[in-house]
Parts: sequence; structure tokens; C-alpha cells
Amino acid sequence: MHESVLLEESLQGLVGPLSGHYVDGTFGRGGHTRALLALLNDDAAVLVMDKDPQAIECAEALAAQDSRVSVYHGSFADLPAALAQLGWPGVDGVLLDLGVSSPQLDQDERGFSFQRQGPLDMRMDNSSGPTVADYLNAVAEDELVTILRDYGEERFARRIAAAIVKARTEKAISTTLELAELVKTAHPRWEKHKHPATRTFQALRIAINRELDDLDALLSVVVDCLLPRGRLAVISFHSLEDRKVKQFMRQASQGPKVPRGVPLQGDLALGPLALVGKAIKPSEQEVRSNVRARSAVLRIAERRV
Ligand SMILES: C[S@@+](CC[C@H](N)C(=O)[O-])C[C@H]1O[C@@H](n2cnc3c(N)ncnc32)[C@H](O)[C@@H]1O
Repeated sequence: MHESVLLEESLQGLVGPLSGHYVDGTFGRGGHTRALLALLNDDAAVLVMDKDPQAIECAEALAAQDSRVSVYHGSFADLPAALAQLGWPGVDGVLLDLGVSSPQLDQDERGFSFQRQGPLDMRMDNSSGPTVADYLNAVAEDELVTILRDYGEERFARRIAAAIVKARTEKAISTTLELAELVKTAHPRWEKHKHPATRTFQALRIAINRELDDLDALLSVVVDCLLPRGRLAVISFHSLEDRKVKQFMRQASQGPKVPRGVPLQGDLALGPLALVGKAIKPSEQEVRSNVRARSAVLRIAERRV
């Protein structure tokens, strides 16, 4: 089971025309999609995307019951190609609920959790590409330091990378708990209420799934995929993602930079998007009932006419 985060708030921000075309770029187990379908009319259409084959299996089952649903297995960065396949010229809303789903975290064999013994995998699309084990056993030490620092904001990146490189010369690192123990031993200063391997696991997950590259790629094409008044709603779970979304929306809502004194009039002074409200965080009640919601931030923007 996956408990959807900021469900009402995100749909309220996303939905415009009830007979419109929408995209759920991160289907997961379809919590947001199902709630969206319940709001929309019979002649609406929803494209759902996910990298994860299990999520896609669940999406196919939903599509078999509801003819409004189309399914795409792959990254949301492929949005323009997926829309072209369907012959949709644009959409009324794109929703992204970033990160991993509870089923991914909870299945030992997916290797996402430092608390569960499993193969060191962490691929969202476990049908292709290298696993974290493949990556860790081959990566150059300097690159690993950069990854741990940039994607995990890990202060002790150098020590942890050195410990990993030393350990792998004796034996390939192949399981989650092996890596968690290794980091625990190498980490000199544990944070309160945080497993010392939390940042390392986050960094490796982001790297192996190219999460920030995919987000950049989507943001660079999404405006052209939105119809006038079409909306983009993004739920982020850590500051690296949220910073990107915030900066993108802010820049896209401003007009082009011109030298001081050069007048820009009317629409020329504005960018293609308008911000819709401020960042939205889950209520205390939601955080109490779903700890995964704790760090969530929702941002919404609308394409100008
Ligand atoms: C937080 S879950 C979404 C949960 C969903 N909103 C629900 O209510 O069930 C994130 C999902 O997005 C998928 N995902 C993450 N990054 C992706 C990307 N770049 N392209 C496609 N799917 C992605 C993951 O595989 C995961 O299934």
C-alpha cells in the first residue's frame, strides 16, 4: 500500500476543465490518479507514467477498467514523446509526486532500505540499467565523494567514499545491510534520530535513477506541453528537488532579463508561467498519520494564456 501525500491539495491545485487531458507522471500505486479520475468527466483522459514495472502493472490493470487511462512505461522526462504517441497537442495538468513509493521501500528485494536486508539494487526501473552494487563496485573514488556530497549533502563524504573503496578491494559490496554497516562504522558523527547511512542511501538512489537529471529534463519541456491555463503541480520530498522546482517556477514566471531602463510592456514583461499560491505543506494531522508526508512540499504554477 502507498498512502498518497497532499492528495486533496494537489488535485485542487491541478484540476481545471473536468473534460480535460491530464498527466500523472509518477503513478506509483495510483492514489492520485484514482482520486483525479473520480473528479473528472467520462470524456476526460489521463496519461499515467512510471519507471517502475510493478507500478506499470498496476496502471495497466486500472487502464483495463477505465478507458480514460493511457499508460507509459518510462521516465516523465519523455513527456513530449508520450504525448506525441497519443496525438495530444497539450494537456490541462501535469502532476509529479516525486521520489519513491512505499511498496518500493518495503520490498526487501528492491534494495532501497538500509534497515532491510536485500540486494543493493535501488533501481526504480529494475528491468534495465546498473544496480547500486554495480555502480559502487566500479565508481571512481572522487566521483563517489561528489555524489555523496551533492546528492546526500553528506559532510563526511570523503571518509565514507574511502571506506567503500577500501572494502570493495577485499570483497564486492552486494547487500543493503553490508553497505549500511560500512557507513555506520566510517561515519564519525551520527545525527539524532537519523541512521548514519540515510544520506548515503539517498545520494546513491538519486544517482542510480538520475532523479535530478530527469526532473531538469521535464522542467525544460513542460511549459510547451501545457495548454493555456494548464497547470503543473509538483510534490517534492527533499530540498534538492524542491529548490529546482522553486527556482524553475520563479524564473518561468518572470519576464526576460533586460538592461535596467529598457521598458517591457504587457505580456512581454511576464514569463510563460504564473505562480499559483505559495508552497503548500501537509497539515499536522497528515504528518501524524503518515510519516512519509513530513518533508513534502507542493508547488503549483499555471501556464499563462
Ligand atoms: C511517491 S511515488 C508516487 C505515488 C503516487 N502518487 C500514489 O499516490 O500512489 C513516486 C513514483 O514515481 C516513480 N518515479 C520517480 N521518478 C520517476 C521518473 N523520473 N519517471 C517516471 N516515474 C518516476 C517511482 O517509480 C514511484 O513509483
